[in-house]
Amino acid sequence: MKETLIQVHDKTFDIYLSEEKIQQRVKEMAADINKDYKNKKPLFIAILNGSFMFASDLFKQLTIEAELCFIKLASYKGMKSSGNVVTSIGLEDDLFGRDVVIVEDIVDTGKTLHRFLPKLIHQQPKSLTIATLLHKPEATEYELTLDYVGFSIPKKFVVGYGLDYDGLGRNLKEIYQVV
Ligand code: IMP
Repeated sequence: MKETLIQVHDKTFDIYLSEEKIQQRVKEMAADINKDYKNKKPLFIAILNGSFMFASDLFKQLTIEAELCFIKLASYKGMKSSGNVVTSIGLEDDLFGRDVVIVEDIVDTGKTLHRFLPKLIHQQPKSLTIATLLHKPEATEYELTLDYVGFSIPKKFVVGYGLDYDGLGRNLKEIYQVV
């Protein structure tokens, strides 16, 4: 039998989603987006670092006119009263009147997007949707409308295809789940 276990730092992971499964699902998501955004010119905002591989593969499957930019979110321990604040680095595009699609690798608790979306909405885009490759419904604590979801997965840590465990594992073509 083929060995499917891998080691990243101190943890063992087993294969969860093959490269073929991921690529097939990305194609399906792109097909939905191509249909929904026909004759529009959406701006895709991919959130670094984790979404770089998904954003690249998804973008290659688009047949509509579309733009892509990347942003990095940083959580700071702000003033004690307000808690963590999410700020973006690198968003230069004007979102006013644009059809915007956020591209995420994974929605876990939903906190990151929940905190960040108001900053985008403030710029008055014409529409705003979210495309995430992975979603952990059991872990999600913040209300979010996820418009395009690749795979709903259990509340278990995963690596690969852009997702890391303490910096490693992003280069894997498959997605692995902690054992
Ligand atoms: P949230 O704010 O809890 O939804 O978490 C969002 C971010 O946490 C993602 O963009 C990932 O960077 C990271 N994350 C959450 N779950 C995992 C996982 O299972 N593996 C790797 N990164 C994860």
